[in-house]
Amino acid sequence: MPATVIVGLQFGDEGKGKITDYLASQADMVVRSQGGANAGHTVVIDGDRFSLHQVPSGVFRGAQCVIANGVVLDAIALVQELDALVERGVDVTRLAVSDRAHLVLPYHPALDGGMEDAEGGRKIGTTRRGIGPAYADKMARLGVRVCDLVSPGGPRRRLAEVLGSKNRELQSYGLAPIDPDAIADALAAAGERLRPHVTDTSCLVNDALDAGRNVLFEGAQGTFLDVDLGTYPYVTSSHPIAGGVTVGVGVGPTRIDRVLGVMKAYTSRVGEGPFPGELSGSDADRIREAGQEYGTTTGRPRRVGWLDLVMLRYAARINGLTGVAVNALDVLSGMAKVPVTVAYRIRGERVTDFPAATEDLFEAEPELEWLDGWEAPERVRTPADVPAAMRRYLDRIERATGAPVVAVAAGRDRSDVVELP
Ligand code: IMP
Ligand code: MG
Repeated sequence: MPATVIVGLQFGDEGKGKITDYLASQADMVVRSQGGANAGHTVVIDGDRFSLHQVPSGVFRGAQCVIANGVVLDAIALVQELDALVERGVDVTRLAVSDRAHLVLPYHPALDGGMEDAEGGRKIGTTRRGIGPAYADKMARLGVRVCDLVSPGGPRRRLAEVLGSKNRELQSYGLAPIDPDAIADALAAAGERLRPHVTDTSCLVNDALDAGRNVLFEGAQGTFLDVDLGTYPYVTSSHPIAGGVTVGVGVGPTRIDRVLGVMKAYTSRVGEGPFPGELSGSDADRIREAGQEYGTTTGRPRRVGWLDLVMLRYAARINGLTGVAVNALDVLSGMAKVPVTVAYRIRGERVTDFPAATEDLFEAEPELEWLDGWEAPERVRTPADVPAAMRRYLDRIERATGAPVVAVAAGRDRSDVVELP
């Protein structure tokens, strides 16, 4: 498994945390390359549920965990997350944080909320964790980085350079300006606590790859939330696709050996934006309850729909998959027939390539193909436990993605992951 990217093939929440945790038993290093505290990765260990936001899902297996340069780091929230893990007996000493990662500062969530609530604006339905404003500042060259946080003088000097501009922006949303003294102390305290973890993580990861170690790159969010290739503008502000790893970590594209796409047996989305074939009524309620489809970060009920093969084909192409893991197969259990979307009808035209325009996506009507349903056994423990109709469903996924299904799960626990030959 030398260098494996784990990428979400849908709108996030595909179960990447569970798959990462499972594979991390053989990994030396688990690396987060993008996103931030908007992510919610759930790992269930013997019934105990852990929700991770910034710490990589390898932390339960003793792997070296890395928060790389492409992440936007909420330092104060990270300290709280680390404290909570330590309290539950988890060892967090092997966490490394990039000195080049940009910080989510207290004004970023405020601006995130200000933009979402602005009169006449376009609501994205963000997690309000400040992710978009922090990435915007990075691109506008107004960011504050981890190296500023842990510099001898602390972040004060860099804050002084950017706060004039940020305060004008805050006031334009009717928000209170930031007093640098008020935030510098809290930040400096977080900086002191994180200092032992801060390093040049590109060196760390490249050294591990040079030494032939197994490295997992844990994606957050999903392909259709990518700022370039997702359902823009209803996206997150980073690159959750496989290609984002190289920029977000500082490794060359030639170093990646495998790209494992993670998907659910159906589709879910949290937040606003187009969702061709979104279900409502009893079908939606059934999936939402069976799949416990409520956001890990925000608690919002997730929107749900049948599996969309138009999306999967697109995701397979832009991520260059070498394998697929299919989660939540238990949720569809007990249906006589299971539909999948094979094409869209947009204003009378049949479309098989995922369109760019939001208006097209809002108008897309799914064309369904009906496959045989299955009755999941109490537990799917070995490949032999996979019912024949479930196997045919997986075959259909392989045909759409052109990649083999290498793992399935019909349950939420780490022990529910089954590797297929
Ligand atoms: P932001 O990342 O908070 O800016 O939110 C932008 C969009 O991405 C919203 O629709 C969020 O609901 C969605 N989003 C962000 N992070 C996640 C995630 O980890 N899982 C699922 N959706 C997410
Ligand atoms: Mg999640």
